[in-house]
Amino acid sequence: MRTQVAIIGAGPAGLLLGALLHRAGIDNVIVEQRSAEYVLSRIRAGVLEQVTVDALDEAGVSERLHAEGLPHDGIEIAFGDQRLRIDLHALTGKRVVVYGQTEVTRDLMAHRARLELPTVYEARDVLPQGFDGDRPFVTWRDASGTEQRLDADVIAGCDGFHGVCRSVLPSGSVQTFEKVYPFGWLGLLSDTPPVNHELIYGSSERGFMLASQRSKTRSRYYLQCSLDDDVAHWSDDAFWAELKRRLPADAAERLVTGPSLEKSIAPLRSFVAEPMRFGRLFLAGDAAHIVPPTGAKGLNLAASDVTLLARSLAEFYAERSTAGIDHYSRRALARVWKAERFSWWMTLLLHRLPDEAGGVGQRMQAAEFDYLCGSVAAQTALAENYVGLPIG
Ligand code: FAD
Ligand code: PHB
Repeated sequence: MRTQVAIIGAGPAGLLLGALLHRAGIDNVIVEQRSAEYVLSRIRAGVLEQVTVDALDEAGVSERLHAEGLPHDGIEIAFGDQRLRIDLHALTGKRVVVYGQTEVTRDLMAHRARLELPTVYEARDVLPQGFDGDRPFVTWRDASGTEQRLDADVIAGCDGFHGVCRSVLPSGSVQTFEKVYPFGWLGLLSDTPPVNHELIYGSSERGFMLASQRSKTRSRYYLQCSLDDDVAHWSDDAFWAELKRRLPADAAERLVTGPSLEKSIAPLRSFVAEPMRFGRLFLAGDAAHIVPPTGAKGLNLAASDVTLLARSLAEFYAERSTAGIDHYSRRALARVWKAERFSWWMTLLLHRLPDEAGGVGQRMQAAEFDYLCGSVAAQTALAENYVGLPIG
């Protein structure tokens, strides 16, 4: 089999890249190790920046998003018993859209199926090869165990944090930066009306909580938990009781509880691999970087990476110019590091940190929040980052 761009991974990065390349007249094949059903069963992000919506518009995959997505003009921050609303729209002229990653993925998969674009699911032992020369290819074993081979001009590594693409780069060719936070997020999804019309990010004595949503009838809540916590130790009742303790009092009174559809624990990590290109292999999305979810940036960074990569590849094919692909890594990383900084800052502002000598950390958080309350400049900086910085 031969194509122009071999894409490894059918998460949001790989699927969106495939759709953008197709729009630009560039052939691509996606090779994914899991089944489509498994990919859709992963409950992850829920907030889309305007640049992500723009990319889905450009790809021609945004009809349902515009019909069902919920535009949000602001977010609330609850800090102890204080409340601050960040008016994203008044401060930046932009808003975000609440629409789940699962739905984005479903729409992209349906679009790909409608256009009969080739996607290989359940590929085993996927291996990108030859990318240090000009004839890269990808091999894998199909369900019957037969080895398959896909030749391409370039390979896009969209295979997430635990994927194969970053791991096959020669040692010394990538530099990695990593911070693992000393806590995780316990998430619960339920078919109950959201406790508030906007998201509430809360910092309480008992730890961080986030009240998010997927629709007017589906809620997503998170609690800061310890790293050695086990989801099996959290009954639904225990989750709701702890959430009530961490929600602001008025919201706690309104909270509607119900059976969980999903419950899971995610660790929090900041991670960047530099550069995002080696020869003819390009990394995009979680394959190259991870942010803690506090700033709602993970999915949005995957979308901005592939927007840049698709533009670079379109230039490569249309003008036979390598200028775009040569600058891809630098351009993508400039935006990635700003999102890393913002996510790190939001995380450190709102989580209960392990005790620091003399309680300095907590006093710093209180001072930071107080400053935020009194400064339109500080609120604008938060809002500008939350709605998403422009693509370079
Ligand atoms: P992924 O979605 O990870 O997709 C990669 C794809 O590659 C997967 O389908 C995988 O099966 C496939 N793959 C892996 N290895 C191979 C291989 N060897 N061969 C072929 N295919 C392979 N972000 C937020 O903003 N908010 C959140 O609440 C949030 N929650 C999250 C919870 C969890 C548990 C995780 C892991 C992430 C969360 N994120 C969240 C981050 C966000 O979901 C990711 O940033 C986003 O999924 C990145 O998309 P991606 O396509 O780069 O990677
Ligand atoms: C979510 O709805 O899953 C979500 C929303 C905002 C975040 C993180 C997760 O910052």
